[in-house]
Amino acid sequence: MRLSQQYQPVTLDEVVGQPAIVRKLKRLALAPYPCCLLFEGRGGVGKSAAAKALIHDLGICPFSGLVEYSASNLSIDEVRRLFGQTFRLRPMTGSRWHVLLVEELGLIVSKHVNAALKDELGEQHMPERLIVVATSNDASGLDEALLQRFDVFPFSAGPTFAEACQERLAWIWQREVGPDIPLPQGIDQLGWRQNNYSMRRAMTALGAAIELHRTREVAA
Ligand SMILES: Nc1ncnc2c1ncn2[C@@H]1O[C@H](COP(=O)(O)OP(=O)(O)OP(=O)(O)O)[C@@H](O)[C@H]1O
Ligand SMILES: [Mg+2]
Repeated sequence: MRLSQQYQPVTLDEVVGQPAIVRKLKRLALAPYPCCLLFEGRGGVGKSAAAKALIHDLGICPFSGLVEYSASNLSIDEVRRLFGQTFRLRPMTGSRWHVLLVEELGLIVSKHVNAALKDELGEQHMPERLIVVATSNDASGLDEALLQRFDVFPFSAGPTFAEACQERLAWIWQREVGPDIPLPQGIDQLGWRQNNYSMRRAMTALGAAIELHRTREVAA
């Protein structure tokens, strides 16, 4: 299993480097209300991870309360079925809330899907116990009226995010190889590309360093 999957945050407490967003999401998890959230930011900064952690902290059952789509696969028939039937019924298990997770919202291909979502997510139609979480690398190309339905959460890829990630990387390293072995120099810096830090990139580098360390240990 890849390191990023193995150390995928389970709860919001494990999502690092996005403190203002995590605070708001924790409040929502404690006292849910119907809403549409858009997690916007560069790759590997925790948008999908935070969405999954929120779903966990809301007590949503992944089998009966969660509907997950990549926006490019969302058809008009699916939108009609979801809003006409699925979200009107109470989930069989877990919390009484539904979550619709739409990854890469910018990739909605059909104008009809766009229009249907705009309509269903409007104040008059929004189901009573539905939270919509969408992710996007760049929301600037989104239809303005659809975008207005969402509360936008801008995820950081800057130095404070990188700093928090470096602490988590060091913690993971120690858990994997032992407490007294220092993190190899420069590993944590490998998350940077231009001015953006990606925890996914950093964890790939860390995974390779852990493998190398183990190989050397076996050889020694
Ligand atoms: N803020 C974070 N806190 C803890 N772990 C993180 C964080 N961001 C990323 N990770 C780690 O990196 C992996 C990839 O992050 P994630 O899938 O959330 O990125 P993303 O922002 O959704 O990127 P993309 O735009 O490419 O989909 C996660 O599975 C997790 O292990
Ligand atoms: Mg993602």
